[in-house]
Amino acid sequence: MIILGIETSCDETAAAVLTNDENRVTILSNVVASSADLQAKYGGVIPEQAAREQIKSMIPVIEEALLESRVKSQDIDAIAVTYGPGLIGSLLVGVETAKTLATVWNKPLIPINHLLGHFYANWIGGQPKFPAIGLLVSGGHTDLILFKDHGRHEYLGGTRDDAAGECFDKCARLLRLPYPGGPNLAKLALQGLALQINLPRPMINSKDLDFSFSGLKTAVANIADKSNVADLAASIEQTIVDVLVKKSIQAVKQYGVKNLIIAGGVAANQLLVSNLQLKTKLYVPPPELCTDNAAMIATAAFFNNHPIKPNKLQANPNLNLSI
Ligand code: KG4
Ligand code: ZN
Repeated sequence: MIILGIETSCDETAAAVLTNDENRVTILSNVVASSADLQAKYGGVIPEQAAREQIKSMIPVIEEALLESRVKSQDIDAIAVTYGPGLIGSLLVGVETAKTLATVWNKPLIPINHLLGHFYANWIGGQPKFPAIGLLVSGGHTDLILFKDHGRHEYLGGTRDDAAGECFDKCARLLRLPYPGGPNLAKLALQGLALQINLPRPMINSKDLDFSFSGLKTAVANIADKSNVADLAASIEQTIVDVLVKKSIQAVKQYGVKNLIIAGGVAANQLLVSNLQLKTKLYVPPPELCTDNAAMIATAAFFNNHPIKPNKLQANPNLNLSI
């Protein structure tokens, strides 16, 4: 089966062509156009502007993905598209394009939840085993789920305020680092010592599987101007990682599973990966597949192949993992 995946939930315009042989998935092309350079000028994403960039890039990105894969439109078996959550203006570009192509080319249309899509980056070149705990750590979400099988998961907990990626980005901004903050803060942290500065770790000892990160940025704001910036970066990174590790391992133990699957932009953080690997069997995508891409969306569609009629599909900016 050959699937064309489309992803436009935020500031990346992405299209990918993948093929599968039973459970092995192969990427034929994976094109991502990011307007992150533009967002960097303003220190964050302006939804209206992100949507306009999506419109400009959508068709060229799909054309490039098809060209690179050497697959002709008539040989595509299905189209998969992110229908939420995300910025409504951005989502609409991908959803309406996918609906149009599915209608014109007469192909099945498979809607994919962006959050679930992130987890499926682990099935590109890998075969995670069920049951597993899933930790999603992206710019907008921090969620723990119990993965029983494809299409069968249970929501266990999540952030009550800021997401882990959002916390990285907001703290990076306080440290006057450029957007996107997470990777830049992680780079600076390599030159600092986390032990020099002690930051609060909210909810780290709570019995539930929820998180809270908004207090951390307030604590950082209070000391940002009087601290060594590299030490502070190292401490912020270690603090976020400690909380994520503690709750993930708590979930692994509580549900008696052996595997942990991580996903989302913050899963590209090497400190998080190395600290988790010390404690459990960990599945993590290669860094370039942790951030938004369409290969993960097409892969999710191979394992959750539930097409719907194009005129029935609507973008849902508030979709979450408990649906
Ligand atoms: O999953 P993603 O690409 O977009 C969303 O769906 O939100 O995640 C983007 C988030 C940003 O907050 C970014 O700062 C963070 O992932 N991120 C990182 C790293 N790489 C990306 N955070 C910490 N360390 C990294 N190496
Ligand atoms: Zn994402």
